[in-house]
Amino acid sequence: MGHCPCFGLRKKADKEEKLKSQQEQHNKVFDKKLNSPHNNVSPEKYSGITTPEATITTKESDNYYSNNKAHIFTFRELATATKNFRDETFIGQGGFGTVYKGKLGKLNQVAAVKRLDTSGVQGEKEFLVEVLMLSLLRHPNLVNLIGYCAEGDQRLLVYDYMPMGSLESRLHNLPRDKEALDWNTRMKIATGTAKGIDYLHNKAKPSVIYRDLKSSNILLDRGFIPKLSDFGLAKFGPTGDQSYVATRVMGTHGYCAPEYATSGKLTRRSDIYNFGVLLLELITGRKAYDEDRGHDKHLVDWARPMFKDRKNCSRLADPRLQGHHPGSRLTMAIELASMCLREEPRQRPDAADIVLALDFLSSKQYVPREANNIDEKDKENNNDSPKGIITVLTKDEQREEAVAEAKLWGKTWRERKQNDQSSLEEINR
Ligand SMILES: Nc1ncnc2c1ncn2[C@@H]1O[C@H](COP(=O)(O)OP(=O)(O)OP(=O)(O)O)[C@@H](O)[C@H]1O
Ligand SMILES: [Mg+2]
Repeated sequence: MGHCPCFGLRKKADKEEKLKSQQEQHNKVFDKKLNSPHNNVSPEKYSGITTPEATITTKESDNYYSNNKAHIFTFRELATATKNFRDETFIGQGGFGTVYKGKLGKLNQVAAVKRLDTSGVQGEKEFLVEVLMLSLLRHPNLVNLIGYCAEGDQRLLVYDYMPMGSLESRLHNLPRDKEALDWNTRMKIATGTAKGIDYLHNKAKPSVIYRDLKSSNILLDRGFIPKLSDFGLAKFGPTGDQSYVATRVMGTHGYCAPEYATSGKLTRRSDIYNFGVLLLELITGRKAYDEDRGHDKHLVDWARPMFKDRKNCSRLADPRLQGHHPGSRLTMAIELASMCLREEPRQRPDAADIVLALDFLSSKQYVPREANNIDEKDKENNNDSPKGIITVLTKDEQREEAVAEAKLWGKTWRERKQNDQSSLEEINR
């Protein structure tokens, strides 16, 4: 997925057109380089980059997995790993570069190699930010940067290879004969993604605003463990008394938080808005922005009017789930998405609250047998508050679930209220 051109970034489509000629040109250059005696240009420019809390190592002999040390590759190593960036190793095309699958001979490991288009200042900046961020950050729901290459004009990033591809490819670009993601997997992906965001916002020091949360940037490891990728647009902060980071507005169609689009003031709550869009994508199976849907091309605009009435819940559910989703927990997932998508940033939940709520939603595996009861449940659960669920449940187990749910959501609301005052000051500052 490309970035929104009105936000000042280049379109992926343009890049795909350019790709072929670049590839041909590169192949010629590369063949020359291989035969040149100067092909091992040292990346001195990037040696020993220091950050507030980490030093990116430059020694190939170091163990690249320990102490967040990024491995430095030569261009030749990565060209060999990807069979000279041949089509057969091509994985995908992004707004800033092309991704190839490669086998790192020396490390005996399969990896994803992203070759950046460094024709602009933006590409160079993204490269540096990505290396710095991923060298500082480490979490099970963040993609692991194995290393990089900064040789001459070449800028390449090397990541752990994610065998299940991107969430975008699993959710939107799935061939008809492939089975759609089931409800439990969708909730697992949402929960892991929220944990990644919670880590960036509340645990990383300094904290980080991700800024580019979207389905193409959620990569899936074995077992559908989600990993956030692409930190080139991420920002440290805000720090000290500052409540926002002033930036040039950048983002992707359908994801951008309204207040960020108009003011350029970036806060953690803009990431929360992006998360709301992503959660809605998981629930509905629709793209955040889809030209083919005409009037309904913006997912949020299409879904928002339906948030108010519980009767609409099944209408919002992805038809490819074929009714195999829980009644009450679908309603709660929709409610959570609507909270994240609130126009007023301070009314959106904190990432930690979202993790709590999603942990609860995914704590009990959905078994398709429940699908038969959906219509009946939805008829019953037409209250707007989670407490409404309690009054209509009769079985003990369901009652327990509802009580836990009410407690959890009650806690979330109380905490948010307490935080609202400080958030208000933050936003208005
Ligand atoms: N580590 C990885 N393992 C497996 N596949 C990957 C990996 N990194 C990227 N990809 C694949 O390559 C595609 C292109 O990735 P890239 O991040 O360059 O662009 P994008 O996310 O589609 O768009 P944008 O540049 O706007 O972020 C992804 O959609 C994904 O399918
Ligand atoms: Mg990406």
